[in-house]
Amino acid sequence: MALPNEPRKTLVLTGASRGIGHATVKRFSSAGWRVITCSRHAFPEDCPWEAGPEDHLQIDLSDAETLEERVAELRRMLNGEPLHALVNNAGISIKSDDGERLDSLTTSMADWRHVFRVNFFAPIALARGLFEELKLAGGAVVNVTSIAGSRVHPFAGTAYATSKAALASLTREMAADFGRHGIRVNAIAPGEIKTSILSPGTEEQLLPEIPMGRLGTPEEVARTIYYLCTDQSSYVNGAEIHVNGGQHV
Ligand SMILES: NC(=O)c1ccc[n+]([C@@H]2O[C@H](COP(=O)([O-])OP(=O)(O)OC[C@H]3O[C@@H](n4cnc5c(N)ncnc54)[C@H](OP(=O)(O)O)[C@@H]3O)[C@@H](O)[C@H]2O)c1
Repeated sequence: MALPNEPRKTLVLTGASRGIGHATVKRFSSAGWRVITCSRHAFPEDCPWEAGPEDHLQIDLSDAETLEERVAELRRMLNGEPLHALVNNAGISIKSDDGERLDSLTTSMADWRHVFRVNFFAPIALARGLFEELKLAGGAVVNVTSIAGSRVHPFAGTAYATSKAALASLTREMAADFGRHGIRVNAIAPGEIKTSILSPGTEEQLLPEIPMGRLGTPEEVARTIYYLCTDQSSYVNGAEIHVNGGQHV
């Protein structure tokens, strides 16, 4: 919890409407943070956290035409106040019309570009757009990558995997560039977390690969994100933390 006289901290979070993002907004809200949520849908009426629609931005991160204006809107919502954390969590993975994995032979260039716009270009556009506010706070950026960014995955397609590998590389570059301005930039790479992004059959096929013998929960990922946005990780910069029960070993 924030101490009584401590100024309230602010988080901008993409992909807040379900899954890992949903758990993340709950984790930060319960610690007293103001959370500005971003996703394509309008603010849900039955929202389980305290913030209202004034702290929600409807944004389609794949839409290059409107992205700049939407980032400007985020800056208006911040009103010159410091931004303590930006979490680039929204991400998409696409499949063929009949639900098959799309690989490097079968992914259309249009689909590949679409995935990169959401998973890779939006995070850098947001971080650069909100740079001044992050600098004011000595803030932190967390990019949500994936285990699929570093190994071929049976369900996640090639466009997704390459976008996450690029995001991991971008995290290193940003840690060097933003770090000089007092902004830490890290990534978390989840393994198999129980959310709607998981493909059918994940549990049956992948459990034997996970030393801990179970899928992860969105709350476990949210706690790691929270750690990277607070003073508990004040000297951690340019790291990519695996949150996968040991699946990568
Ligand atoms: N679950 C896993 O096992 C796993 C594993 C590795 C990595 N990850 C990564 O973790 C992150 C969160 O995953 P998740 O499983 O929680 O995903 P999810 O349940 O599918 O949620 C995705 C979120 O992204 C938002 N979103 C999707 N497209 C968008 C767009 N064009 N513009 C704005 N927002 C958009 C969605 O909100 P709207 O629909 O309202 O736009 C939603 O809130 C992703 O980056 C994913 O790649 C997940």
